Amino acid sequence: MQPIQSWLFVPGHRQRMIDKAYALNPDGLIFDLEDGVPPTEQEKARTQIAAALARSPDPGSRFVRVHAATSPALKDDLEAVIRPGLAGLILPKVRGAEEIQHLADALSQHERRAGLTLGQTRIIALIENAAGLVQAPAIAAAGPRMAGLIFGAEDFALNLGADPNDEFLYARSALVVAAASAGLQAIDRAHTDLGDAEGLWAATRRARQLGFSGKILIHPAQIGPVHDAFCPTKEEANRARRIVAAFNAEGGSIVVDGRMIDLPVVEQAHQTLALCERRKVDPD
Ligand code: COA
Ligand code: MG
Repeated sequence: MQPIQSWLFVPGHRQRMIDKAYALNPDGLIFDLEDGVPPTEQEKARTQIAAALARSPDPGSRFVRVHAATSPALKDDLEAVIRPGLAGLILPKVRGAEEIQHLADALSQHERRAGLTLGQTRIIALIENAAGLVQAPAIAAAGPRMAGLIFGAEDFALNLGADPNDEFLYARSALVVAAASAGLQAIDRAHTDLGDAEGLWAATRRARQLGFSGKILIHPAQIGPVHDAFCPTKEEANRARRIVAAFNAEGGSIVVDGRMIDLPVVEQAHQTLALCERRKVDPD
């Protein structure tokens, strides 16, 4: 499966946004039951999300962010949303691998009840505190349902007493490595400055440089810049073509544009060209 590059958060209590989300073209949707929903709107959000999932039995890439493992609300969340049409859950504020294992056990029971294939519901862990980051490799390896790790900057900053606008280079890189060690997707933080398309594009480029394969979005206007940033530039695509052509002609270690090129670079060039294909971008 191709990585989900754009993950749009949709607050579960806002029916208009849920309807709108279906008409948009992000790769993945995350219906939110956690911090984006006021406590008084929880029940409404559960009902609306369940109805949204029921619109199509094909789960596609529809996820739900449920409450954290320590929250008493998690039980009701699972009761409401484990049904046909759900691809997986985002578990927030994860602190250790045992939380994933407990959730996986609960999911198996709900899957049986809902007539779903055992094990089909994937889990993505939101890493947004120091404990979760330290345990990230174990969390990533916590079982076959694991599909990705997301970096949550605001809660992480709160936990550390750090500035939420910091780049968090160490933490984000550690998350990318942890995700890659288990073959999972690494998904980067949201860009909260809604009007800043240029900044979002640059932040997504930077995320890609670090090894992230997806980005959290909070507004429909963020879809375009993020898809664009995950596509190679003309320059990158042309260089990738030159590398592949030169390697096909000569093999071994070769020189392209004055730089030594060997197998991993050629493999990356192939991946770059596949990214061009994905959004049907012709960089020339
Ligand atoms: N998903 C789907 N549709 C959305 C949307 C979203 N996340 N955010 C905005 N829209 C829709 C609005 O409903 C509006 O549609 P309409 O004109 O047909 O009514 C349109 O896009 C333009 O929205 P806009 O007026 O610019 O924004 P807003 O003031 O309505 O909402 C936010 C701004 C930040 C409150 C909203 O984008 C949001 O709730 N985002 C998600 C936040 C979230 O989930 N945070 C937690 C995880 S990080
Ligand atoms: Mg959070």
